[in-house]
Amino acid sequence: MRYDESTIEKVREANDIVDVVGQYVRLTKKGANYFGLCPFHGEKTASFSVSPRKQIYYCFGCGAGGNVISFLMEYENYSFQESLKALADRAHIDLPEPKDGGEDRGARELKRQLLDIHKDAAMYYYRQLQTPEGAAGYRYFSGQRRLSDATITHFGLGFAPKASDALYRFLKDKGWSDEIISASGLVTIQETKIHDKFWNRVMFPIMDTNSRVIGFGGRVMGDGVPKYLNSPETLIFDKSAHLYGLNFARKSRRKYMLLCEGYMDVIALHQAGFTNAVASLGTAFNEKHARLLKRYTDLVILTQDSDDAGVNAKLRAYPILYDAGIQTKVLDMSPYKDPDEFIRAEGPDAYETRIRQAKNAFIYMIEVLKKHYDLSDPAEKTAFYNGVADRLCMFREPLERGNYIDSVSHEFMIPKDELKALVDRRIEEKGAGIRYDDTNRRPRVIEGQSLQTSGTAAYPEARSGRNGAAGTAKKPVPLSVQQNEKLLLSWICERPDLGRYVFQHIRPEDLQTEIYREIAADVREHPNHFDAASFLDRCGEDDEKRKAAAAVFAEFGNGASLDDMSRMDLEKGLSEAVRHVLRAGIDEKIASCSDASELGRLQQSKNELRSFKITIT
Ligand code: CTP
Ligand code: MN
Repeated sequence: MRYDESTIEKVREANDIVDVVGQYVRLTKKGANYFGLCPFHGEKTASFSVSPRKQIYYCFGCGAGGNVISFLMEYENYSFQESLKALADRAHIDLPEPKDGGEDRGARELKRQLLDIHKDAAMYYYRQLQTPEGAAGYRYFSGQRRLSDATITHFGLGFAPKASDALYRFLKDKGWSDEIISASGLVTIQETKIHDKFWNRVMFPIMDTNSRVIGFGGRVMGDGVPKYLNSPETLIFDKSAHLYGLNFARKSRRKYMLLCEGYMDVIALHQAGFTNAVASLGTAFNEKHARLLKRYTDLVILTQDSDDAGVNAKLRAYPILYDAGIQTKVLDMSPYKDPDEFIRAEGPDAYETRIRQAKNAFIYMIEVLKKHYDLSDPAEKTAFYNGVADRLCMFREPLERGNYIDSVSHEFMIPKDELKALVDRRIEEKGAGIRYDDTNRRPRVIEGQSLQTSGTAAYPEARSGRNGAAGTAKKPVPLSVQQNEKLLLSWICERPDLGRYVFQHIRPEDLQTEIYREIAADVREHPNHFDAASFLDRCGEDDEKRKAAAAVFAEFGNGASLDDMSRMDLEKGLSEAVRHVLRAGIDEKIASCSDASELGRLQQSKNELRSFKITIT
């Protein structure tokens, strides 16, 4: 960070968040907070809220959150320094010279140059299509892939010639330095060996949402391997944060987006009039992709390939989209492999029909699950019903859960009352929000405590495979635990004075979620003047900031304040929040405990928790 904390704080305090946000969003006061339509995702009811007391904003719809500095960063696409500068100017504060000046300016300049060199490269590849050597590429696109000239131009498709340094020589002629050329990732320069990353391939420029080229994919024209090569990650190209086709799709007038697997699927769909198709690029669909989509749509139709990998891709994308607040449907492409093949064989109208027939993603997930069981065998049938009940626990809202119980029992002919009883028992024991990884054929728990210990052992590959949460260095904190911890923090951030009751029973370091642990420590340290906005300044990543904002933005209903609550209600709510966190801690210990007497002791303290109560004096 280039400015010291006191400068940042001074600028922040001179800019009231309600005033600043109010310049962009129409805000209405409701209770202690202000509400408006979220500028970061499309919505019709106001779930974007600003707290004048805490000087932070949080969107209950898309999870965007932060303080006044991060608001401008997100809204205006500013860097931290740019945002700070804008706010300083607004408050007529002279910023001192930054401590280690220049570094950020350097990075910005390099970014600009990388964008420029990519533009040159894209133009070069595109023009090659019209040369005699590039005719092979043109024939591939127009003949084999049936792309019109208009489509080729629209997507800026191109051709990388056979010579292994053709692009390098072109870029040198344009005056680019070896340093920038190398930083672009399009050419490898090692001592005297210089060669282009892409040669003898048809080229797909990858554009950001503002249609600036940030990388390339290159495909062999025949059956060679690798089929696709992609640009390496660079200062301007973060694969996990971009969706191919989104620059066009975001302007599409359709209300939903189509999510497919590859370059060619997106292009074929757009050419057929489905200009709302996007694809993640050679990486699995992730939370960043989902948040990006949420800015433009509330409904995604999954249209990944029909093969096993495609089924897994759908099963993986669904919970991610669900968490981002996006409704998800699944399109049936059978008997074709992917949208490109489908459109070529059946045409746009048939595809439109399939879109209309797309089915709810949860129902689809249960259909896939059902295939693993022989329902004529009572034992397997029971296991299937239990599996269905497990999955229904992902819905936290009783109403939503009830609706899904209704449809699932109807659709799969499971006795409704029995199913409901199975689900209720699980919720009672473990709470809602538990998730399963349904990919790799045999389901297993990915979030929440293990309900089902058999199954995983029989399919050990599910643990180590490329899929799922396994394999990350840190053990992920179950979503249900995070939720409990978040709720507890909402209480003590709203009323830091209540912290002393909480910290009698829970130490900050007992919390499993790292960022929550830090907030709790901060609250304990400053029981009388915990400053949420300043805490957010110290958060590193975007994701951290959002998570922290969500936690400190108390969710006690629209603007309702703890100040208005009776002591009895306060005690009840606070006790419950503490109890949940304590119970999760014990469960965690139970899960890893192999000593029988210790296990008994743990079980005992878990039972005692039932009567746990905090008394506020
Ligand atoms: N992909 C990749 N590297 C590979 C193979 C695939 O990055 N070696 C990515 C590409 O983005 C590709 C997507 O995964 O578009 C889907 O791959 P695949 O289904 O194999 O290709 P298609 O899109 O069907 O391509 P085509 O129709 O040209 O065969
Ligand atoms: Mn294909």
